[in-house]
Amino acid sequence: MLRIQYFCVTRKTTKLSHSFSEAIDLIKKAKHIVAFTGAGISVESGIPPFRGAQGLWSKYDPQVLELYYFFDNPKESWIVIKEIFYDFFGKAKPNDAHKGLAILESKGFIKEIITQNIDNLHQEAGSKVVHEFHGNSQQLICTSCKSTYKASEINLNKLPPLCLKCNSLLKPDFIFFGEGIPQDAYFASLAAAEKADLFILIGTTGEVMPACQMPYIAKENGAKIIEINPETSKFTHTITDVFLKEKASIAMNHIIKSL
Ligand code: APR
Ligand code: ZN
Repeated sequence: MLRIQYFCVTRKTTKLSHSFSEAIDLIKKAKHIVAFTGAGISVESGIPPFRGAQGLWSKYDPQVLELYYFFDNPKESWIVIKEIFYDFFGKAKPNDAHKGLAILESKGFIKEIITQNIDNLHQEAGSKVVHEFHGNSQQLICTSCKSTYKASEINLNKLPPLCLKCNSLLKPDFIFFGEGIPQDAYFASLAAAEKADLFILIGTTGEVMPACQMPYIAKENGAKIIEINPETSKFTHTITDVFLKEKASIAMNHIIKSL
């Protein structure tokens, strides 16, 4: 079972460029481009990142997403989960960065997206091949009979929500700390990392395992790495080849105009 842990092997392996034209050259030449996205790509849709000054974990205790805490305190957990992932996330719309990736996929540049996000914004922007490493908040799953429901089908004003079939506790179908990574998403992401000749990292600190392994695996397999982030991350001074120190939607609009 694959678990989220808070470390990723970091070693300096590359000379860093900030050249936008070099990024465009890499995109034009690449045969199999994979986008690897984190919470930062959704910040301009109004969803705060998890870490950093205004991050969610500076306002809420991440323990609500610890599996043992959720089962011991379902109502308390669900109150916070509803506030963050349904009240707040629920109103978010795809921004130009999500839309730009969908355009690059429709033009044949981007082949697949590996996302750590659970907000469904890549799919809403029109991206077709999206590997959801941490699941998706739009679906709830019964902790007993495993029936699944669209979050919109369940009344979240009565917490904790219960299964309509067996009356057991419902859980959002995204992974909690201590929970295994969805095997289909893990192995599809691993295959993508082995096949890619270019990875475009957008809006991630690179702090969470095993998701953060994927860019390293791609690098080990010879891929070039472009990173889009207004701040540096664990990747920037280890495996990134071209660092575009920019907000996701601004960089993406610039890329779309230049291709
Ligand atoms: N455009 C691009 N990147 C941005 C923007 C923006 N407008 N705003 C912030 N960022 C960057 C931050 O600089 C930071 O590097 O987005 C990143 C957000 O980091 P995190 O909040 O740690 O998000 P992420 O890396 O996706 O976290 C991984 O941790 O809590 C778990 O499961 C959760 O999937 C999440 C995982
Ligand atoms: Zn059930």
